[in-house]
Amino acid sequence: MSARNPSLEGHEGFQASPWKAEIRLLFAVAACVFTVTVLIGLLNGQKVVTLSQNVLLTHVHAGTLGWITLGVFALSLWLFGAGQPSARESQLIHWTSILAAVAIPVYVAAFFSGNFLARAIFGFPVLIAIVAFLGWVVWKATRASLGIPQWAVLGALVTLTIGGLLGVSLQIGFAAGKQFLPGGAFAAHPSALVSGYLILVGMAVSEWRLRSTRNDDFRLGIAQISCFFASGLLVAVAFLADVVPLLGLNTLLLLAGTVIYVLRFAGRASGAAWTTRSSERFFLASGIFIVVYVALTLVLTIGLVSGAFTPDTIPTGVLLAGDHTMFIGVMTNALLGLIQDGTREQQVFWPWENDVIFWGVNVGLIGFIIGLITGATIFERLFTPIMGLGLLLAIVVYATLLIRRPAAVRVAPTR
Ligand code: HEM
Repeated sequence: MSARNPSLEGHEGFQASPWKAEIRLLFAVAACVFTVTVLIGLLNGQKVVTLSQNVLLTHVHAGTLGWITLGVFALSLWLFGAGQPSARESQLIHWTSILAAVAIPVYVAAFFSGNFLARAIFGFPVLIAIVAFLGWVVWKATRASLGIPQWAVLGALVTLTIGGLLGVSLQIGFAAGKQFLPGGAFAAHPSALVSGYLILVGMAVSEWRLRSTRNDDFRLGIAQISCFFASGLLVAVAFLADVVPLLGLNTLLLLAGTVIYVLRFAGRASGAAWTTRSSERFFLASGIFIVVYVALTLVLTIGLVSGAFTPDTIPTGVLLAGDHTMFIGVMTNALLGLIQDGTREQQVFWPWENDVIFWGVNVGLIGFIIGLITGATIFERLFTPIMGLGLLLAIVVYATLLIRRPAAVRVAPTR
């Protein structure tokens, strides 16, 4: 092991945050739960066995809730955490973080068990943690002037709460043997969460860590994130009320928001130093994959609205390519960049680890996406191990750094 890597240029970590212990805990548990997603993905990519629906749902929820949502809670604490907390606030956030760190892995296990009652029951503590984080963020938001990243995360948590309510209600319906939500709720739950939650978080991270090339564009930034927030709500209503034409309006919102995003950030991508070992390239890749995701979604939405295919004949390869563009391309790149920034003081592994993780994850992902879109299974077999091993290395490196206390940096306790 070498000393701190001097080539890692980036932003401040979370050592000065009053919530550094909670941020570490949430990121560390997120990384550990992500192992489950990656191992199942590695197995699935080889196409040697057909995985059961329970295993597939475990793959999905260990990724979306375990890795991404625990990571988003950590991001919220980091982003909204300025100021000296009161003893009461400290207690609330401390116990909410512990609740999230325990309840989400248990919920993932409930998906694996296939037991509908367990899935319905263990969804509640997760929902309580989501609502508690949203409540705290709203409370903090009323006490400070917000920048674009904070507005984006606030909007994202509102959508997460709505999506979580839909998800838990669906599970109660399964357990009771009778759905009381319209059939469209199955599509509304994931679709709303992607536009109004995941894209917004991806954009918050771009905004916070890359910053727009223009300094006078607060209103433009707010317009951009409003498009995606509105898209999340609209798509939920479109599916719940079965009003397909609303999906057309959704297309316009996605297009408008993406055009503004590209205008504001294109300058950053064109001047990128892709070979420098920094968190910046993870954030840039995350931003580029937002545009790829929207392009794939537009192809699917236009196909549906124009009648080129129906929900039953939708090309599932393109759908899965879109999913992994969002989950790995946008969200995992963003979270890896953040964790790297957060543990900068401790960059004590090998100098090359950053290259292997960055190129392994992104080259592997691109090959995997091409395989899914073209249906060439050989691409999936070749590239999922490249992506998966890159991710496993990231999990080992960052989980170790997060669990181990930084020896070199001793920040005076703030609480
Ligand atoms: C946050 C991370 C991830 C999420 C949320 C996620 C989500 C999904 C979803 C929703 C599906 C479709 C499941 C179904 O058919 O019902 C899927 C399938 C799949 N995932 Fe992932 N995934 C993630 C990461 C990964 C990783 C890291 C790998 C590989 C190392 C991977 C490999 C696969 C494969 C091979 C399939 C099957 C594709 C096919 O049917 O050809 N996934 N994933």
